[in-house]
Amino acid sequence: MKLRNLSILGLAVLASCASAPKQETMEEMTARVFDVAKQQMIAMDAQLGPKQLPKTISADSTFQTSSRYWWCSGFYPGSLWYVYEYTNDDTVKELAIKNTLKLDSVKFVTDNHDVGFMINCSYGNAYRLTGNEAYKEVLNVAAHSLATRFREHVGCIQSWGSNKRWQCPVIIDNMMNLELLMSVGDMFNNDTLRTIAKTHADTTIKNHFRPDYTSFHVVDYNPETGEVNMKCTHQGYSDESAWARGQAWGLYGYTMMYAFSGEERYLAQAENIAKALIPRLPEDGIPFWDFDAPNGEEHRDTSAGAIMASALVQLSTLTKDAEASKCYLATAEKQMRSMATPKYLAEPGTNCSFLLRRSVGHFKGNSEIDVPLTYADYYYLEALLRYRALNK
Ligand code: GLY
Repeated sequence: MKLRNLSILGLAVLASCASAPKQETMEEMTARVFDVAKQQMIAMDAQLGPKQLPKTISADSTFQTSSRYWWCSGFYPGSLWYVYEYTNDDTVKELAIKNTLKLDSVKFVTDNHDVGFMINCSYGNAYRLTGNEAYKEVLNVAAHSLATRFREHVGCIQSWGSNKRWQCPVIIDNMMNLELLMSVGDMFNNDTLRTIAKTHADTTIKNHFRPDYTSFHVVDYNPETGEVNMKCTHQGYSDESAWARGQAWGLYGYTMMYAFSGEERYLAQAENIAKALIPRLPEDGIPFWDFDAPNGEEHRDTSAGAIMASALVQLSTLTKDAEASKCYLATAEKQMRSMATPKYLAEPGTNCSFLLRRSVGHFKGNSEIDVPLTYADYYYLEALLRYRALNK
């Protein structure tokens, strides 16, 4: 090639580089998302009565609240704590305290397993960020409430009450509630709580998973003998399908159990789940509500995407396999970047003050389809903070 042609080519390459849009760094993107989150979470508080927590937007586009006893009550206070952690803003801290204290009596809940979600996400973050001993005592009481649901013969915490269909149902979501037991077990050096959590995690490895490392949603046990009565779904597409949020709860749950216990079997389980799910994600990394949802029934579920992203960031720091670590982090980064686009992220002042759009609560129950959900917001903020901590 002649010298003149080469320089024309060089100029063309330079021009195309100059016009290529520069990708926002993760740091810039995180700052942008937290700016939106701060505005939304402050505006959210103004929509709430003294005993109300946010829930979702209903089919007729109205804002829905819940009482402190809905399983999601801890996520909004928890999101406020995450926004406070990032911004250090005292107004946000005041709102975080106010909305956390709404849940005080939840520590006595013994009729379902969700006391773990409710109290750990609210009071757990409150204690972590303030060191206030009063919060620690709430965590202790709540952990003991949760422990009353441990069924010795089954080796699990019973998730829901029994009814005509179930004797002792245990759902994969329950893995998340073990964090309350593990953290309080460590705070008070209480081995009973830690043993209950590990026994539950071991029984779940044995009975909830299929050979491909996807999981059933519900396993029902005979509480007297510990035998499995049935394996089925409540919120998934079918008994045999891979309900996306359930898969995400399992991934997060075993990653968390390894982080607390150092037991290799939990790391192996988390990695096997990650390796089963990652190849099945759509292009932008945000799962459909069920990995096996048939054509025409696919809706994205940002809650599952956010839970996965948070778990994968943590897993990338725990695995001993450098290639796997890169893959987990790249997947989480893709998911976080996707959720920061207008397809999923709300404009400030819209979306009834929720941060993310497009989650699915209970598709087959025709409830909460393609709507904001507080836990999508919570785990997205957590994922971003976990990612930021990698570079600190
Ligand atoms: N734990 C209930 C749900 O994930 O929908």
